[in-house]
Amino acid sequence: MRYAAPKGTKDILPAQSGLWQANEYLFLHIAATYGYREIRTPIFEKTELFARGLGDATDVVQKEMFTFMDRGERSLTLRPELTAGVVRAYLEHSLSGEGPLCKLAYLGPAFRQERPQAGRYQQFTQYGVESFGSHDPSLDAEVIDLALAFIKTSGLNQVKLLLNSIGCAECRPLYRQALLKAVGERARELCPTCQDRLVRNPMRVLDCKSPVCQSVLAGVPSTTDHLCTACSEHFQMVQRRLYELGIEYTLTPRLVRGLDYYTNTVFEAVAGGIGAQDAILGGGRYNGLIEVCGGPGTPGVGFAGGMERLFLALAAGGDASQTSAGPSVFLVSLGDEAKTAAFRMAHELRQSGLATEMDYLNRSLKAQMREADRQGAKAAVIIGEEELGRGTATVRWLEGKHQAEVEIAQVTAYLTDRLQGEKIGTIGVV
Ligand code: HAM
Repeated sequence: MRYAAPKGTKDILPAQSGLWQANEYLFLHIAATYGYREIRTPIFEKTELFARGLGDATDVVQKEMFTFMDRGERSLTLRPELTAGVVRAYLEHSLSGEGPLCKLAYLGPAFRQERPQAGRYQQFTQYGVESFGSHDPSLDAEVIDLALAFIKTSGLNQVKLLLNSIGCAECRPLYRQALLKAVGERARELCPTCQDRLVRNPMRVLDCKSPVCQSVLAGVPSTTDHLCTACSEHFQMVQRRLYELGIEYTLTPRLVRGLDYYTNTVFEAVAGGIGAQDAILGGGRYNGLIEVCGGPGTPGVGFAGGMERLFLALAAGGDASQTSAGPSVFLVSLGDEAKTAAFRMAHELRQSGLATEMDYLNRSLKAQMREADRQGAKAAVIIGEEELGRGTATVRWLEGKHQAEVEIAQVTAYLTDRLQGEKIGTIGVV
C-alpha cells in the first residue's frame, strides 16, 4: 500500500526548499527593517476565536474550517488565517504594555477546506504583518509598501494593487441601506449564496463572480460614495501616502474582502498568468477586531500573502531561479587512507561553515568528479594516494577549471578564505 499526501496538501522537496528558505528569511528580514518583529502562534486555536473574529457569516467560518473536538470535548480549529491568533496573543500577553504601537510579523501554515485547484490548497503558507494601536493612514501605506517591497525583492515585478475603503461602523449601515435599495426587486435574480449574503452581510454580494449577480449589481453605488467625513479623509490620506512612495494602485469599488473584520482600507495584490486564484496577498484595516476578541478598542492594520501563490507567479513571470544550494565543496578521494583524510576534512570544513559532501559509494575518481559537478559544488578537493604522500591535496575550481595544490592542513583555511559568501549563516539573498 502506498500513500499519497492528503488532497490539497503538498510536500516541499529538497529541490524547492532553497526557494522557501530564501524567501522566508527575506520576508522576515524585510519586515524587521520596517520594525515588525516575528511572533509565532499555535496552528490551532479555540474555534470560537475564529467564529467571532472572522465573522459567523463568512465562507471561511461557514464552510472552510478544519474543526475538531479534543478529548475533553473542546472545539478547536486549525487556523484558517493568522490575524485572529496574533490578536489573541497580543491580548493574552498584554503586548500593548510594551509600547503604544505593536508591530508583529509572522509566517506559517494555514488551513482551509476549499476545493483544491491551481493556487488553492487546503494547507498553505501565509506570511504577513499586523500593526496594533494607531489609526494613522501612514501605517496603511506602510504595510502595503512592505508587502510590495517583499514580493518585488523576491523577483516578482508585475503585480496590480487593488485598493478600496469600506468605511466604519458609523457609515457602513448607510451604505448597506443604499445597496439594498439599489438592488431592490432584482434581489430575486441573485444566486442563492448572494440571497443569503444580502440578509447576513449585504456588502459581500459585491464580491460575487457570477455573471448574473454582476449584472444585477452593475449600477449599485460604490462603498466610497457613502463614507463619513472621517473615513473619507482617512482614505484620501492613505492614497496620498501611497502617491508619495510612488506606489501605483487601482481604485476598486467592488473590493470588499472575504473576512468580516475589515474597516476602512482594504487592498489586494493580483498577479497575471496564475489562473483564477490570482490574489497573491491581501489585507486592510480592522479597527473593531481587537474589541471583538475581548480587548480594549484598539485599531489595527495588516496584510497576509500566500507563499505558494507567490511562487506560482514567480514561475509564471518572475525570476524563480533560487533553488536549493548544493554543497560548496566536494571531496574526492581514492583509497582507504585518502578516504579517512577526506572524512576528517569534511568534518573540519563543515565546522567552519562550508557545506561539504564526499563519496560514500567507493566510486571511481571520474564518477566522483561527475557527482561533484552534478551537485553543483564550487570546488572539488582531490585527495589521491600520491598527494597524500606529499601531505597535499588538489583543489579544483569547477567553473574556471583551474586548480591548485594545497597542503592538507591548509585546505580549510584556503577554502573558507575563498568561499566567504558561501558560508552557511551568511545567506546571500539580501
Ligand atoms: P486572505 O485574503 O483570506 O486574508 O488570505 C491572504 C492570502 O493568503 C491570499 O491573498 C492568498 O494569497 C493566500 N491564500 C488564502 N487562501 C488560500 C488557499 N486556500 N490556498 C493558497 N493560498 C491561499 C487573510 O487571511 C487576512 N488574515 C489578511 C490580513 C492580515 N488582513 C489583515 N491582516
